[in-house]
Amino acid sequence: DSRSIAVVGGDGIGPEVTAQGRRILALIAEKRSLPITLTDGDYGIEAYEKRGRMWPESTRIAMAEADAVLFGAIGGTSYPLPPKLHKTDSLLAVRRSLDVFVNLRPVKTSPALYEASSLKPRVLEGVDLIIVRELLGGIYFGEPRGVETLPGGERRGVNTHIYTSSQIQRVARAAFDIARTRKGRVCSVAKENVMEAGQLWREEVQAIHDARYPDVELSHMLVDHCAMQLVRAPAQFDVLLTDNLFGDILSDSAAMVTGSLGMLPSASLGVVREDGRRGALYEPVHGSAPDIAGKDLANPIGSILSVAMMLRFSLGMPKEADLVERAVSDALESGARTADIAIGRKYISTVEMGDAVASKL
Ligand code: NAI
Ligand code: MG
Repeated sequence: DSRSIAVVGGDGIGPEVTAQGRRILALIAEKRSLPITLTDGDYGIEAYEKRGRMWPESTRIAMAEADAVLFGAIGGTSYPLPPKLHKTDSLLAVRRSLDVFVNLRPVKTSPALYEASSLKPRVLEGVDLIIVRELLGGIYFGEPRGVETLPGGERRGVNTHIYTSSQIQRVARAAFDIARTRKGRVCSVAKENVMEAGQLWREEVQAIHDARYPDVELSHMLVDHCAMQLVRAPAQFDVLLTDNLFGDILSDSAAMVTGSLGMLPSASLGVVREDGRRGALYEPVHGSAPDIAGKDLANPIGSILSVAMMLRFSLGMPKEADLVERAVSDALESGARTADIAIGRKYISTVEMGDAVASKL
């Protein structure tokens, strides 16, 4: 039976890097005779200008019907969107409609890229961690929200940080399940010294651990301390479990451990539905990078490694996932560098990096 993948590039460098991810997926499907159908969909500012809808119905349907979505990035400097469309068509709306509540962001160093990182080689040695970020709760979704004018003219911006116990429990279970396939250690990150929702976070994570995962080693860390430890000694971490906002911030910091934001893949996974299917969205961690868009300069490795995660988590093809990851390390070891990781060396374009990975596959 054939598996269907929706491919949605989005804005800025999104389409550029996604084209390379798509091509690697198509190549491995061809080489290993995997039955995969790719459907392309538009999304973002161009779709809005051409069709009056940032997230057109045809793309919405393709994403809903697919076994997995390969996504690029969204966002730009000029977004003349009516606020109503933001509510229905934003990336937050996409995540909610696919019901993807957990975001996995692996961070692994490779000696070939030590010089691209701002950290010292002895700090980079052996870093292999994964950030497990809650994706449908917290301050990104909490109500009330908005900017209001108070009597007297003072203006007030409001966002609300809310977590329910079931939201915490399901992402905690995901983190513990992943830890069992790795080194068996979870560090839960919150800010329970000042936030009540953080206290609940810590209690619920501890309770799930004690009841169902006593074999996993659990520790707790305050988020500010974690931000420090991530650059001081990142190799100490195995699984970092955290909320929506903290996970967003910590993963950009963790990215610099690997040398560039352009290197990092992610998988966002949903609840398993009655028919056994679950929402699955694979995208690089970075955004649309307007500063380098349209120049064939972007690093496509985040998208290519997202394809590897898709092969592993949605398509049940771990061997093929390994092959893609190995092709990326081989390309890096043989000296292929996009501008972001070149450090004064000669660099190649987005498409040429795709060529380099494809030739190793
Ligand atoms: P960004 O991640 O787009 O870029 C940050 C910096 O990293 C820039 O200097 C950029 O050139 C560089 N960079 C990012 N990806 C790269 C790659 N693949 N290769 C080489 N260099 C790369 O974050 P920024 O600039 O804060 O946001 C730009 C837009 O992207 C905003 O509209 C933001 O809302 C949106 N965004 C979208 C995300 C998504 O679609 N998931 C995630 C983050 C931001
Ligand atoms: Mg971010």
